[in-house]
Amino acid sequence: MKLILLGAPGAGKGTQAEIISETYKIPTVSTGNIIRAALENGTEMGLKAKAYTEKGELVPDDVVIGIIKERLSEDDCKNGFILDGFPRTIPQAKALDDMNISVDAALSIEVADSEIVKRMSGRRVCEKCGASYHTEFKKPLKEGVCNSCGGRLVIRKDDEPETVLNRLKVFHEQTEPLKDFYKAKEKLLLVEGQDDVKDTTALVLKALSEL
Ligand code: AP5
Repeated sequence: MKLILLGAPGAGKGTQAEIISETYKIPTVSTGNIIRAALENGTEMGLKAKAYTEKGELVPDDVVIGIIKERLSEDDCKNGFILDGFPRTIPQAKALDDMNISVDAALSIEVADSEIVKRMSGRRVCEKCGASYHTEFKKPLKEGVCNSCGGRLVIRKDDEPETVLNRLKVFHEQTEPLKDFYKAKEKLLLVEGQDDVKDTTALVLKALSEL
């Protein structure tokens, strides 16, 4: 399966990608995670991306398109993949078409802005392995400590309330038009993501099983 996950920042794309990846045995390709790893490692691409991500702006299309081309050519993507956070603009979607990649669906997780702001304020991420938790909805076994690797849980820099509001603005302006782009190709699936993780997962897996 080749799947695109659409949705506002914090809609639960990463959370659902983890479950879809386990269910369908396909890798998740998250441009956000790739960019954060590059930032962490201080690579040239990371340095280019830093100012954009910290302000909640999108990294330039040519940078992310380059990342995706490289990543999708790797062996583990041969039998399918989940794109989490790509495409995010119409030129990025067109670049995917130019790569002759035809997806089975673009699944949009629908969550209201007010709920997003609440969710983001509680998100904590492991500074070592990047695993994601929530102070209310997905608590770690031990407060402040990652279940998987024992790393320290911290607030993501771009989860500060002001940055979240800008990310939402950017989402509505630049990413939401992708829904019409994929609707025109008859690939768009809308799933309600407002309820808890389990309810959303049930809707997501049902929608995918009907493809
Ligand atoms: P990226 O990492 O992709 O950020 P995002 O899309 O803003 O998505 P998030 O990771 O914040 O949210 P999510 O939808 O995965 O939600 P999650 O499951 O974690 O990108 C970061 C930055 O990189 C961008 O701003 C940009 O600068 C750059 N970038 C990346 N890709 C790019 C591209 N293609 N082009 C240009 N720039 C790019 O859930 C959020 C929280 O809520 C968690 O704590 C979770 O536990 C909790 N939660 C999830 N589901 C539920 C639920 N149903 N109920 C209650 N809580 C829930």
